[in-house]
Amino acid sequence: MTHVVVVRDEREGGEAAAAIIADRIEARPDTVLGIATGSTPLTTWAALAERGLDLSRTRAFALDEYLGLPPGHPQSFEAVVAREVTAPLGLDPALVQVPAANGDDPDLAASQYERSIVAAGGIDVQVLGIGRNGHLAFNEPGTPLDAPTHVAVLSAATRSDNARFFGAPDEVPTRAITQGLGTIARAGTLLLLAFGSRKATALAAALEGPIGAPLPASVIRRHPDAIVIADTDAAALIAKRVPA
Ligand code: PGA
Repeated sequence: MTHVVVVRDEREGGEAAAAIIADRIEARPDTVLGIATGSTPLTTWAALAERGLDLSRTRAFALDEYLGLPPGHPQSFEAVVAREVTAPLGLDPALVQVPAANGDDPDLAASQYERSIVAAGGIDVQVLGIGRNGHLAFNEPGTPLDAPTHVAVLSAATRSDNARFFGAPDEVPTRAITQGLGTIARAGTLLLLAFGSRKATALAAALEGPIGAPLPASVIRRHPDAIVIADTDAAALIAKRVPA
């Protein structure tokens, strides 16, 4: 079942998400956390860091990683996760995994990543953003809902949205390794965050349109424990939203 929580703004959304994550980690310090990158989860990481919780036993898996960036590139998700999540939250870097993008065989790296998640016992709480085109991680429209971790081709819309992190739009990689929608669907709890009016159309379509590959984020409605935290701007087009 999908539970929708509408908050005033991004800061309140981050606090709500951090409270859910903190409860899990307090109950089980070796919780496996699924990490989204992008702008959306930043207030969540900030609110979680402010709680001063001991996260040294928490394990974490990133959702995805670009292919084709030089090792150590500041916009690689390995670097982003280290800078924005692992260090400020005090995670043990040895317990944080990001898909390995610099080997010779990305397809093999993708299947190994899937196996690592399974070997860890699966992801307990998966933090997610949503793309303006309804993508989840780098599962672009058209991706089968049961796909495992795989090599994905980024859509023009996604590359354009992510150009702000790079010097120029054509510097955004064209491919990535991403957890699949099937991988994401196996997490114990999904925590989808959406802030700002530019997410409103995709969020309403995900929550109220047909469930299927054209709108990847719609897959969350098949999940038994999916929580959407959206600010009033992102939630503006949801007809049947549950008031906060
Ligand atoms: P954003 O990206 O958090 O930077 O808006 C979300 C996404 O594309 O999934």
